[in-house]
Amino acid sequence: MAATDWESRLAAIVAEWEEGGRAALEKALTLEEVEAVRGSYLGRKGKLALLLRELGALPLEEKRRLGPRAQDAKRAIEEAAGLREKSLADFLDRAALKPLFNDPTLPGFLPPRGGLHPLTRIVDEVAEILLRLGFDWAEGPLIETERYNFEVLNIPEHHPSRDLMDTFYVSGAKGMVLRTHTSPVQGREMEKRTPPLRIFSPGRVFRRENVDATHSAVFHQIEGLCVDEGIGFADLKGTLEVFLKALLGPETKLRFRPSYFPFTEPSAEVDVQCFSCHGSGCGLCKRTGYIEMLGSGVVHSNVLKACGVDPGRWSGFAFGMGVERIAMLRWGVTDIRAFYESDVRVLGQFSR
Ligand code: PHE
Repeated sequence: MAATDWESRLAAIVAEWEEGGRAALEKALTLEEVEAVRGSYLGRKGKLALLLRELGALPLEEKRRLGPRAQDAKRAIEEAAGLREKSLADFLDRAALKPLFNDPTLPGFLPPRGGLHPLTRIVDEVAEILLRLGFDWAEGPLIETERYNFEVLNIPEHHPSRDLMDTFYVSGAKGMVLRTHTSPVQGREMEKRTPPLRIFSPGRVFRRENVDATHSAVFHQIEGLCVDEGIGFADLKGTLEVFLKALLGPETKLRFRPSYFPFTEPSAEVDVQCFSCHGSGCGLCKRTGYIEMLGSGVVHSNVLKACGVDPGRWSGFAFGMGVERIAMLRWGVTDIRAFYESDVRVLGQFSR
């Protein structure tokens, strides 16, 4: 074969490579496609491989002239095929680790999102209702004097109900306790304001309890207090009826049960008909058909007097409820400790 003939075949192969072969390699999506392109030039029956085999038949001088040109073309093809092979292999490795990463039909990944603590949600709901009923938000200190926690509430020293409260006394600070209920805010607000007044006060309270599924040494209450002229038990009843229906649903049925608190007279505990069995008796209401919701009563005249409010002119009602209790009933939480353990697997179920 003539050298000129060989030379023009080489030129044709190089031109074909430059015009289509290189681009075909760059578009290859599988290792097989890369191999097919490379094989068509350099495989056993590849164009360039065949041509190189014929190089040996050319005169020495022509071999020296044309050999390096053919080797350059061979190297360019090998290099391009190698590069494409490597980047495809990297891509496939990554794809294997994350096989669905580019499936556009899958739902996206939602970034985790914070939410309000369930106890905060109950306080917010209660606050919204009571604010609408004209009550103001009030707060009191967690470390309280025995005077506000007990004395102005008609619980004198040696009164047995001080024992019932299982009080934490602050060591080294005589007369100071961790408040055992939110009722001390009643006295503070009556002293601070002049009637008529309507306040509610959510917050933390403390009792020396052995911690178990239904007891915690720290828990939350919401206090309510209304003082005005001519306030009586009927006002308490009507307010709680509206309040509990707003909180628990319009079907809610209330039951007032006589009770005793030193700071209210008369006193009542308010139950709602069990929202699980509707009164027929189940596990939730312990077969009683009713669930205890709060303590309440008409403010004792001794309390009004102790706070500088004239019982001849003013009267009032008060109520207090446990926040954890409402949250447990609302969401079927059976262990009070769930609210304090900050386990996001638990708390995440309440986020909105
Ligand atoms: N302070 C009472 C308690 O802790 C609840 C209560 C509040 C009762 C207001 C009557 C009036 O149990």
